[in-house]
Amino acid sequence: MNKHKPIVIGHRGAAGEAPENTLASFALAMEQGAEGIELDVHITKDGEIVVCHDATLDRTTNGSGLICEHSWSELTSLDAGSWFSEAFTGERLPLLREVFDLLPRGIFINVEVKHAYEGRMEKALLAFLRESSRMEDVVISSFDHKVIRRIKQAEPEVNVGLLYAANLIDHTAYAEQMGVDVFSLHPHHHFIEQEDVAAAVSSGLAVYPYTVNSLADYRRMIASGVSGIITDYPARLRELLNL
Ligand code: G3P
Ligand code: CA
Repeated sequence: MNKHKPIVIGHRGAAGEAPENTLASFALAMEQGAEGIELDVHITKDGEIVVCHDATLDRTTNGSGLICEHSWSELTSLDAGSWFSEAFTGERLPLLREVFDLLPRGIFINVEVKHAYEGRMEKALLAFLRESSRMEDVVISSFDHKVIRRIKQAEPEVNVGLLYAANLIDHTAYAEQMGVDVFSLHPHHHFIEQEDVAAAVSSGLAVYPYTVNSLADYRRMIASGVSGIITDYPARLRELLNL
């Protein structure tokens, strides 16, 4: 059994118990003692960074269509809570800025870029982060590793992470081949093996598997020595960790 405890990262806030990617979900993750949160971003027609998993509004709001085809003023009154439960009726789609305002400094913020939007997302995100003066709290991750490389090349101060859903032959070597300094690996938890984690951690990479929700999978992640665990249930994981 490894000695260190992984940090608890609330997936889309505490998405198992509140509507994902809403302020209520992030507040709940904080109440439950999460040390970090993961969220997803898209960009509106007028360049605002909105926190939402899907590119479209249909699944998690009472709106429809692509976020990028709406201006922010068209999205502010949408209900992003009642699809989850009536108790959350009236929750809004948050801007990234509003989530940052909610989260205390020092909380680890994993921003997942879902789409490049022809480079508009990385420009907007880097402008936002530079102005936020809390770059050190943030890791930007994406399944699009070219976006990750461009972001790191444009702003060496920002931490970047590689998301992936495949079992790579050599996870650490892959990160090293990026040609930029990678902060973290974010593999699907199915592909976590102790020797890969040990190699990554000993070469200075953090490892944050997603999305881990069962007690058996928590135990497997902990035993493998991961740096943090992305979960929909921060309280459940903290209880297992005796935190
Ligand atoms: O960042 C980890 C995880 O959120 C990636 O998958 O689909 O939940 O955004 P998804
Ligand atoms: Ca995500």
